[in-house]
Amino acid sequence: MKKLLTLAVAGALVASVTACGNKSETTPSTSPAASAGAAATTAPAAGGKKPTIGVAIYKFDDTFMSGVRAAIADAAKDKATVDIVDSQNSQPTQNDKVDLFITKKVNALAINAVDRTAAGVIIDKAKTANIPVVFLNREPLADDMKKWDKVYYVGAKAEQSGTMEGQLLVDYFKAHPEADKNKDGKIQYVMLKGEPGHQDAELRTKFSIQAITDAGLGVEKVAEDTAMWDRVKGQEKMAAFLASSESKIEAVLANNDDMALGAIEALKAKGYFKDNKFMPVVGVDATAPALQALSDGTLLGTVLNDAKNQGAATTAVATALANGQVPSKETTGYDVTDGKYVWISYKKITKANMNEAK
Ligand code: GAL
Ligand code: CA
Repeated sequence: MKKLLTLAVAGALVASVTACGNKSETTPSTSPAASAGAAATTAPAAGGKKPTIGVAIYKFDDTFMSGVRAAIADAAKDKATVDIVDSQNSQPTQNDKVDLFITKKVNALAINAVDRTAAGVIIDKAKTANIPVVFLNREPLADDMKKWDKVYYVGAKAEQSGTMEGQLLVDYFKAHPEADKNKDGKIQYVMLKGEPGHQDAELRTKFSIQAITDAGLGVEKVAEDTAMWDRVKGQEKMAAFLASSESKIEAVLANNDDMALGAIEALKAKGYFKDNKFMPVVGVDATAPALQALSDGTLLGTVLNDAKNQGAATTAVATALANGQVPSKETTGYDVTDGKYVWISYKKITKANMNEAK
């Protein structure tokens, strides 16, 4: 059964990757040359021509980032030409793509780093070529952000999402005392962390637990694993947790929805979500399949990671920079904090308010 489910999920993934098709996508309004790759040339942004933004995503095969990518392209429609490339989860590949953008003389870069500690190298390249750069979703270290004044970051405060994730469980355990199965006043949980070193993996792990203790509830870790933001891995790790310690587990914290949905598959295979057998599972992102799971009653809650505004802000900041403007509320429509950060808010989502995430 487990094998069958894994196969079905893997099959769906292959189908969605295939559907992505061409690995480099350019907004339709672009000159045909741009999609021809090396032949693409870009005129400087001056003279009323639309600027070109070179966008490198850490990997196309990531549910949340696919939403951000679509939002970047959508927001660019009549403001800028965006050339979006897949770094295939490889920092050397991404560095090559950045070099190519620099050779093509794009007017600004938007980079979703594979390894956020590699931002410094990218900033050095961009600065030498005098091409402004906006990082997104994977936050560079503060020291790297200080390297040049034409470096910006668009993202969300990782600790905020962690706090909300924890609060979703607090709300549930306060309303359902019977969820404390062994009646010891503590929540025995398993954690699907996400990619180690990623600010969202580290801080969601930390602040979700802190929110539970801040609410006066006890908490105890039964198991933790990375699962790398991935649905199939989330399912496999959860199946392993259930095999070793099912009777202890009272809650599942997954630091993104794909891992939460994988965990739900593993739980379903063990008979959960029917005949009064329930397990509270929380995620982060509020992707479309997660909203479906909320309405089905399998996912307890999630946190809206606002792909639309993160994508739109990235395009707005990069376009302003490409046009020689200083990003500000006036030039981008978004508040710019500390001269270089645009923070997009998270929001707690349950079945009760899921329309706000659509
Ligand atoms: C997080 C998101 C994850 C994954 C990751 C990629 O913000 O919650 O699902 O997309 O970014 O860097
Ligand atoms: Ca307990």
